[in-house]
Amino acid sequence: MARYALSALLALASSTYVAAQTGTFPATPLASKHFAYPSGLPEQADPDNLARGQQAGYNICNSTTENQQSECQTSFVNHIDDFCLWAPMSPNSTISDTEGEETAWCTKKGHGTRLIPAGALQGVQLLRAPAYIQITGYIDQTQINMQDGDFGGELDPHGQDLRGNPIGGLMYSNAFPSNGGNNASFEQVIEWTNFMGGNAFCIKICDPAGENPAGFCQHTLDRIGCAYNMPSNAPNGTFEVCDSDNMDIPGIYTVNGQTLSYSQPAESLGAITTIPYQPRVPATSNCVTYESSALYTDLAAVTGVPAAPTSSGASSTPTGTNKGSSGASSTPSRSGSGGAAAPTGSTNGAGSMGVSLVAGVAGVAFSMLFLA
Ligand SMILES: *[C@@H]1O[C@H](CO)[C@@H](O)[C@H](O)[C@H]1NC(C)=O
Ligand SMILES: *[C@@H]1O[C@H](CO)[C@@H](O)[C@H](O)[C@H]1NC(C)=O
Ligand SMILES: *[C@@H]1O[C@H](CO)[C@@H](O)[C@H](O)[C@H]1NC(C)=O
Ligand SMILES: *[C@@H]1O[C@H](CO)[C@@H](O)[C@H](O)[C@H]1NC(C)=O
Repeated sequence: MARYALSALLALASSTYVAAQTGTFPATPLASKHFAYPSGLPEQADPDNLARGQQAGYNICNSTTENQQSECQTSFVNHIDDFCLWAPMSPNSTISDTEGEETAWCTKKGHGTRLIPAGALQGVQLLRAPAYIQITGYIDQTQINMQDGDFGGELDPHGQDLRGNPIGGLMYSNAFPSNGGNNASFEQVIEWTNFMGGNAFCIKICDPAGENPAGFCQHTLDRIGCAYNMPSNAPNGTFEVCDSDNMDIPGIYTVNGQTLSYSQPAESLGAITTIPYQPRVPATSNCVTYESSALYTDLAAVTGVPAAPTSSGASSTPTGTNKGSSGASSTPSRSGSGGAAAPTGSTNGAGSMGVSLVAGVAGVAFSMLFLA
């Protein structure tokens, strides 16, 4: 913690500060803040105005905030028909420019959020593992305000300053066994990660009552994408729910009976060109396939935000909101460089990713993406 804090402070030394900003780290890390849903929700989980600015949105979300301008930062992963992804508030944004201020885009009404436009989701696989729930999918990312070709990045409740990405973003679920199958009862999920980019995504929430949630949902491999953090054989064009074994803890692998641990090199060392192992895709069973039209009935009338810029350059600039996002894009980010599919860091990430995802369509696992 102390070393982490020091290196983060050094990394932030070149950021822009304004007078009102009093520091970098909150008194309590976001991942240590607990709020009952919905009675205990604060208007903002991170009310401070620290080095990266203020929380861009809010956490109390209701029918008033349920529209395509919503700035709700309370998210859910419940079922294949009821989950949210983190994506930008303004059209044509990159995840790395807006990681601190993403808003929740959901597949179902009732959460006070934006809705993912009809047809944007092209394939979704939900895996129910003993320790976590994982959703992997394909999406036309321009319909959720992501720039065409953005290879994206990783969101989690930690971040370089322990305020989360997005800052103040909260996660809830009704799907873990401790809930007893009561869909109306939501528990806060402390450990989760979400990779967005390359017209693909993956999101994993770890059962707070399950085995090693911080391990299965660890957030330190943020540059090496879904393949290493959430290995799966999710097929494009299919909507399915499967039971799954637990994956290996991300970064832990076995060679000749010896257990080894991979950690991500510093970004200052340049692109990651080799990784010493191939992640194991956990075994799945009991897959049930759905028609998307049956799953996403709330989305039928929701259309994508037109991506066309207005004549004014300023209004088409993806700056998020005017609520203190100024520091975000200048802040050295641990998570801006690893999208859902791309190995990243490479100068031609977007191009090589296109090739890679074709391999994915052909039935080759996400885990093969790095060979491209
Ligand atoms: C609805 O959410 C908004 C935004 O967080 C909040 O200001 C308002 O008080 C909420 N309304 C109710 C009735 O809770
Ligand atoms: C909870 O929601 C899931 C998915 O939406 C549904 O399949 C299940 O039947 C619901 N459970 C109850 C008890 O209503
Ligand atoms: C999105 O932003 C990029 C980079 O600023 C720009 O080149 C492109 O024309 C924009 N696209 C749209 C649809 O506004
Ligand atoms: C998934 O399939 C859709 C429909 O065929 C296609 O347009 C899209 O490019 C595919 N996505 C990826 C990432 O390959």
